[in-house]
Amino acid sequence: MSFDRPIRIAPSILAADFAAFGAECRAVEDAGADWIHVDVMDGHFVPNLTFGPATVAALRPHVRGTMDVHLMVAPVDGWIAGFAKAGADILTAHAEAGPHIHRTLQAIRDAGCKAGIALNPGTGIETVAEVLDLIDLVCVMTVNPGFGGQSFIAGQCDKIARLRALIGARQIHIEVDGGITAETAPLAARAGADVLVAGSAVFRGGAAAYGANIAAIRRAAEAATGART
Ligand code: DX5
Ligand code: ZN
Repeated sequence: MSFDRPIRIAPSILAADFAAFGAECRAVEDAGADWIHVDVMDGHFVPNLTFGPATVAALRPHVRGTMDVHLMVAPVDGWIAGFAKAGADILTAHAEAGPHIHRTLQAIRDAGCKAGIALNPGTGIETVAEVLDLIDLVCVMTVNPGFGGQSFIAGQCDKIARLRALIGARQIHIEVDGGITAETAPLAARAGADVLVAGSAVFRGGAAAYGANIAAIRRAAEAATGART
């Protein structure tokens, strides 16, 4: 059975109107978003603070598709059950967030979610090799996490290519997160990423622009990969 690996666009609600999350999620899904990316920041692992399980639970009825929850939290294990109960489909924890990423990934699957591992720009891929049987997704950070609107670190594309080779035929997504625009998406997609997170490049211009913003990123990525759809 071959793995379904079309380009997926995952708008990050970090760039949405925080007073209207429900409407913003509906708007980007109506505009063609594949997943909704939810950035959870704890003010400790990263120097910014967003929201917790209660907000994710409140959002759940407004998201038809996959809710992709990126946990920038340390320690993270104590939060897994809460975010699973809140309705997350995918929970991604950072390799750098503690010494027990193996246990964390097991706990995410035990909680009934798909499991992701995120790598900061300064982190190598060695850990991923040790947990290939426990993950459904690797998130390659192409900015240092904490804030939206930062510039894409193009040097991370080599890491994406090495991960692509490591993963081989396994059913594991490579997600790229940070600084994705119609200009940078082709670099990430060509290197092997199939899920493209984009915050500012999707939410700029208001709801009327979301469809064109998403389509521009998707078109650019598909053109670079020969449209794997
Ligand atoms: C960064 C977050 C990203 C970010 C993406 O810490 O994990 O998801 O919001 O935003 P842009 O696309 O604006 O870089
Ligand atoms: Zn993110």
